[in-house]
Amino acid sequence: MKPNPRPPETVILEELLAGEAGYVTGTALARKLGVSRVAIWQHMEKLREQGFVFEPARARGYKLAARPSGLNAALIQAYRHGHHQDFTLQLLDEIDSTNDEAARQLAAGRVAPFAIIAQRQTKGRGRFGRAWHSEANGNLYVSFAFRPRLEPARMQMFTLWMGANLCELTANFCRTAPGLKWPNDLLFDGRKAGGMLTEARMDADQIRDLVFGLGLNVNSPAGGWPPELAGKAVSLAEHTRQPLDLNRFTAALIGRVLQAYDRFVDGSYRQTFADLWNRYDVLRNRSVAVLTGDQRVAGTALGIDDEGCFVVRTEQGRTERFRAGEVTLEKPPKS
Ligand code: BTN
Repeated sequence: MKPNPRPPETVILEELLAGEAGYVTGTALARKLGVSRVAIWQHMEKLREQGFVFEPARARGYKLAARPSGLNAALIQAYRHGHHQDFTLQLLDEIDSTNDEAARQLAAGRVAPFAIIAQRQTKGRGRFGRAWHSEANGNLYVSFAFRPRLEPARMQMFTLWMGANLCELTANFCRTAPGLKWPNDLLFDGRKAGGMLTEARMDADQIRDLVFGLGLNVNSPAGGWPPELAGKAVSLAEHTRQPLDLNRFTAALIGRVLQAYDRFVDGSYRQTFADLWNRYDVLRNRSVAVLTGDQRVAGTALGIDDEGCFVVRTEQGRTERFRAGEVTLEKPPKS
């Protein structure tokens, strides 16, 4: 028999989730994993230590009666059952930055794709070297590592495409979608719910290592922000007024990111990108200012062009395109 490459705890959870309405016997689990019933009991003991509760019933086996609400790697993988089995996930209690850790592991030769998730970051980073608030508060700090071997010129659209996919994922999962603020912000009513940071390492004329980092405010409570973020940041739970199943959401997010990555690399993303972006773009037709270095250009946002540049009609009537920069909203939307 081919050895099962997935961790036994993940397989046990997959079986219990599949038989959720009913029970799964220890014998069936032992047969599935090709191990003894004592070994199954030991794996279940490890899961109990992580907060899982198994309800036993004579002659019927076990039922999953409770699961941890905090991030749990085995549960995330179990929810992803059958998808992208070549992908690996590492969940850490604490790290400086998941982007930095993913880059270190790529440089050390770890097989991609993989993701690093941390409960907490001590040096979480955003654009322009800004700090990303990264307490262990029910939010998500995750970095995906890839080896795309693409020309650098093709990467301009990558973060934008990922952002549009994350909006759609959230819309499907929470029935409400954040808006996209070019190039990397996810917003609810002008407050930041998430930010993306894509970093790449070149090898001659190709991207060798690619790290896509996402900080997403999922379950942090209203009023839990430090003073500098109060009124500026918001979580999905705060916006929807109900906590999310963080493990199920993370599993769906991983699936969506991996699928979006494949579509990016094979080029098929072009068929849907513009529609998706326009659906979630919150800047289009708004009065904005774009800051690049010490230059500030004010005007009306026209959207993005087919290279992912931000397009503005300036107050003087010129059309300007920006490959990078920081956008601020100048006035409320025209009614
Ligand atoms: C931004 O809005 O400026 C981007 C924020 C990106 C934050 C995430 S959290 C996970 C990953 N690790 C980091 O250090 N940064 C990204």
